[in-house]
Amino acid sequence: MSEQQSTITSGLVENRVFPPSEAFVKAARVSGMPAYDALCAEAAQDFEGFWARLARENLNWTKPFTQTLDESQAPFYKWFADGEINASANCLDRHMGTAVENKTAVIFEADDGTVTKTSYKELLARVSQFANALKAHGIQKGDRVLIYMPMTLEGVIAMQACARLGAIHSVVFGGFSAKAVQERIIDVGAVAVITSNYQMRGGKELPLKAIVDEGMALGGCEAVKTVFVYQRTATACPMLAGRDKTFSEVLAGQSADCAPVPVGAEHPLFILYTSGSTGKPKGVQHSTGGYLLWAKVTMDWTFDLKPEDVFWCTADIGWITGHSYVAYGPLAAGATQIIFEGIPTFPNAGRFWQMIERHKCSIFYTAPTAIRSLIKAAEGDAKVHPDRSDLSSLRILGSVGEPINPEAWMWYHKHVGHEKCPIVDTFWQTETGGHMMTPLPGATPLVPGSCTLPLPGIIAAIVDEVGNDIPNGTGGILVVKRPWPSMIRTIWNDPERFKKSYFPEEMGGKLYLAGDGAIRSADRAYFRITGRIDDVLNVSGHRMGTMEIESALVAKTDLVAEAAVVGRPDDVTGEAICAFVVLKRPCPSGDEAKAIAKELRDWVAKEIGPIAKPKDIRFGENLPKTRSGKIMRRLLRSLAKGETITQDTSTLENPAILSQLGQTY
Ligand code: PRX
Repeated sequence: MSEQQSTITSGLVENRVFPPSEAFVKAARVSGMPAYDALCAEAAQDFEGFWARLARENLNWTKPFTQTLDESQAPFYKWFADGEINASANCLDRHMGTAVENKTAVIFEADDGTVTKTSYKELLARVSQFANALKAHGIQKGDRVLIYMPMTLEGVIAMQACARLGAIHSVVFGGFSAKAVQERIIDVGAVAVITSNYQMRGGKELPLKAIVDEGMALGGCEAVKTVFVYQRTATACPMLAGRDKTFSEVLAGQSADCAPVPVGAEHPLFILYTSGSTGKPKGVQHSTGGYLLWAKVTMDWTFDLKPEDVFWCTADIGWITGHSYVAYGPLAAGATQIIFEGIPTFPNAGRFWQMIERHKCSIFYTAPTAIRSLIKAAEGDAKVHPDRSDLSSLRILGSVGEPINPEAWMWYHKHVGHEKCPIVDTFWQTETGGHMMTPLPGATPLVPGSCTLPLPGIIAAIVDEVGNDIPNGTGGILVVKRPWPSMIRTIWNDPERFKKSYFPEEMGGKLYLAGDGAIRSADRAYFRITGRIDDVLNVSGHRMGTMEIESALVAKTDLVAEAAVVGRPDDVTGEAICAFVVLKRPCPSGDEAKAIAKELRDWVAKEIGPIAKPKDIRFGENLPKTRSGKIMRRLLRSLAKGETITQDTSTLENPAILSQLGQTY
């Protein structure tokens, strides 16, 4: 790829354009912009026919569907509703008897560097055996199973085994707290939990099972009959007789054959909790048929997947990226993938680059936060610089989860991609199931910091507050105008919240509201995401609700009277959490303030998880409010950024608190 123009006219206008090389275009699955345009035209001419074709070509149906899209109960859309399918069969069984059968499905690299390889055939046997173990413990179609596992092959096996039986999994990221586990067990109505005694991260052995125990001890989890415990390490963990079973115990004597249970295409494959703008996380419900279709198709299109590729998505299975591009997409597409248990900085910050070299990774997909932190590390220590590793196996790079700043993009392009690997900047969400907007590596000219164009069949647009289209070059609200197969079906237990959050009446009730602002460039009509328009923060690519953190802070009733949380830009994590706190005692300063700040951070870690710990804590006698009592969040955001306050503060009830709130702990 050549750099055609190299001027940045301002921070907002990016003029560098990187078209794919001719050779890349020629070999690509979607080859050149005319091929992309043709797919878009197909979707425009016959929307349902387009999706039906993809669904027939990409998935094996035990009962073929006759109806593609049912809009009769919009926005509760149904796709391929009378068809029957099994997700696990489409990831594993369908490859048996093909060239993929004996291909490596998973190259697993443990935290300590131990590598194990598992073929598709072996994976099918392991998933089947575990599914039989679940079945033997009464788990059946429709049951909800909570998974709280480390990033291991066994985590993927647990998900696939649930899918095989038609049981609905709900994976909780291993960094969430006992309370978060308990709340999700209750909300989802779990009958079983699959966990691990410990997890290994950065050479440390951290408990998981003990956190499940602690969560269940908080009450309300009586529906859980079995806790399956994978023994990741040799260290014993407490086991409750009758309820808790080790993997080896339940697998003993189970057959490695288990017929996949066909389910309706709309049957929920999983429920994954994510933060919204209120205090309570939302259980995003995904379908089986439509979800899996898009996970598979985007593997082929976005990553231009070829049989010889070695794919590596670094996301944890606790997030949507780990669902679509670790647990399901790569397997449905028959790819060889790397699964990595550890962290990018252990034993040193060159781990990712060394692993790319070791496993000859060809498609590497990670988050901007990881890239930014590795840039910092590489700049400080030449030994962990990507230039030290042989990265010649790479052909495509990907970015996900947050906006990638052009500087980080350029570094990724130069030092990791050696100026020959297209970077696919994929915009999507937990709710969208798979990629929505992204360059196609063999077609779309790249512009750093832009997710470029919607995938064929995704009808994205930018509108104003009432849903009217906005011309290119002007910022507005990102919406999707037509349903797509992998979209969220509902919020578990809360269909009203689903309607209100994603299909607001003010905008006509028919547009899917992503919750992000965006702008399209005047020249290419490329999309650039400008950030969330609701009270959701994006910290290291993880979604956090400001109200969720505020609720956690005020739950510390002996100490906290009031709290307001805002985000501020951070060089590495994208956004950082900044909490403004009013205590039930005089405003502290110095060492006392530091000690209380620590206590509050630990508290939030216990309530939600360490990822929700505020980076900055500021204390005041009061929060800045208007005379009508509304917290002036804009002002707090300026304070958090360290800006000089130029806004009108005349309506502020008590202007003196601004100087108190200027001090960070
Ligand atoms: O704000 C957008 C940002 O992440 C949000 C979705 O977060 P989550 O549901 O946790 O899913 C993350 C992984 C898909 C979006 O609303 N976001 C995600 N990808 C991008 C992005 N912002 C800019 N560019 C992206 N490529």
